[in-house]
Amino acid sequence: MSKMLLLLVLLSLLSPAAEALDNGLALKPTMGWLHWERFMCNTDCDTDPDNCISERLYMQMADMMVKDGWKEAGYEYVCIDDCWPSHQRDAQGRLQADPKRFPGGIKKLADYVHSKGLKLGIYADVGDKTCAGYPGSLGYYETDAQTFADWDVDLLKFDGCNLKWTLIGDGYIKMSNALNKTGRSILYSCEWPLYEWDFQKPNYTAIRETCNHWRNFADVFDSWDSIKSILDWTASHQDIIVPSAGPGGWNDPDMLVIGNFGLSHDQQESQMALWAIMAAPLLMSNDLRDICPRSKKLLQNRQIIEISQDPLGKQGYRSAKGNSFEVWERPLSKNRLAVAVLNLQEIGGPRGFAISGIPGWKICDPQCNVTLILPQYKEMGVQTKDSKLILKVNPSGTALMTVTPISHNFGKLYWKHTN
Ligand code: GLA
Repeated sequence: MSKMLLLLVLLSLLSPAAEALDNGLALKPTMGWLHWERFMCNTDCDTDPDNCISERLYMQMADMMVKDGWKEAGYEYVCIDDCWPSHQRDAQGRLQADPKRFPGGIKKLADYVHSKGLKLGIYADVGDKTCAGYPGSLGYYETDAQTFADWDVDLLKFDGCNLKWTLIGDGYIKMSNALNKTGRSILYSCEWPLYEWDFQKPNYTAIRETCNHWRNFADVFDSWDSIKSILDWTASHQDIIVPSAGPGGWNDPDMLVIGNFGLSHDQQESQMALWAIMAAPLLMSNDLRDICPRSKKLLQNRQIIEISQDPLGKQGYRSAKGNSFEVWERPLSKNRLAVAVLNLQEIGGPRGFAISGIPGWKICDPQCNVTLILPQYKEMGVQTKDSKLILKVNPSGTALMTVTPISHNFGKLYWKHTN
């Protein structure tokens, strides 16, 4: 074998399984806000002007994102979901925003959002209608991609309703190419696998080459049942989906519903912790104008966001399950590990979990440093592989921590130094 060939073989062995969509975007899981779960298809601006899908809603969210520290915490994209367009295309066949609810049009809205240092996302559908019955992009992929680029849009959520499943993959690829052809950097958020799973196992290599993130499973609702069903689906498909995630392309378990009505605070902590472990896009769907301070603090928790955005870009997975506990682990840069211990028992009080029962705890041989992040920040100091530490986890709550191994030599030095 020539030296060159050997080098190529070695390189291919070292590189991740699949190539990401090469648009330079989503190198870390996307952070922002998306209207759907909280505001749905509310188009009634006459009687509900504060909550209807209108340019005002996105402008106010953009204002709040800057004013209340969201932007500083890393949240960047303000995203429109379904129900923004007029029911008719214009004379040139282009989508147009509903003129009553978006009097300034999308380009003006994008300018406004950009003036705040944020980015604007929009929504369309691969079929002939969106899920809520607005005009779909089928037959208009290039026109719509160009329209979004002309409006200076930064992200497209492309839904998969109203198209025969056998044509879905082709449609998603065509739109990806159309976006690429515009020359504008537009992050491409897909629902391709979600619409394919009922019929066949999706091709995650192709999906990763086409999209920056992709929904696999049903829409999130504002309930603990919904969060649990997403976690269950993810864990039971982790062998297939985890390897496909990495810089440039991520599995999308749907929006964060923290700050709404359906989750207790412990459950909100569980969603935040597990979404960080899953390297999921952090797209909140809540009302930033009216959010409880505890939820806000949780969504802006720097240590959790750091786990989410870790430069190694590996998705975590469920590593153990039993006695109504689940352990999830995510490998982090610098050989560290993020660990979430979830208490699924919805009766009684806090329950103890022996830390040495974490499968990845072997990195604590001989020693490691543990930082507890949830339920409250606490340096747990140096631990050993035989640590007797017991974590207390509330019902439907999560203990989240980072574990940093201390190498043997370093451990000795540390020991000498401190004794
Ligand atoms: C689908 C998607 C949701 C949302 C709605 C809009 O259900 O999965 O996220 O975009 O359509 O109609």
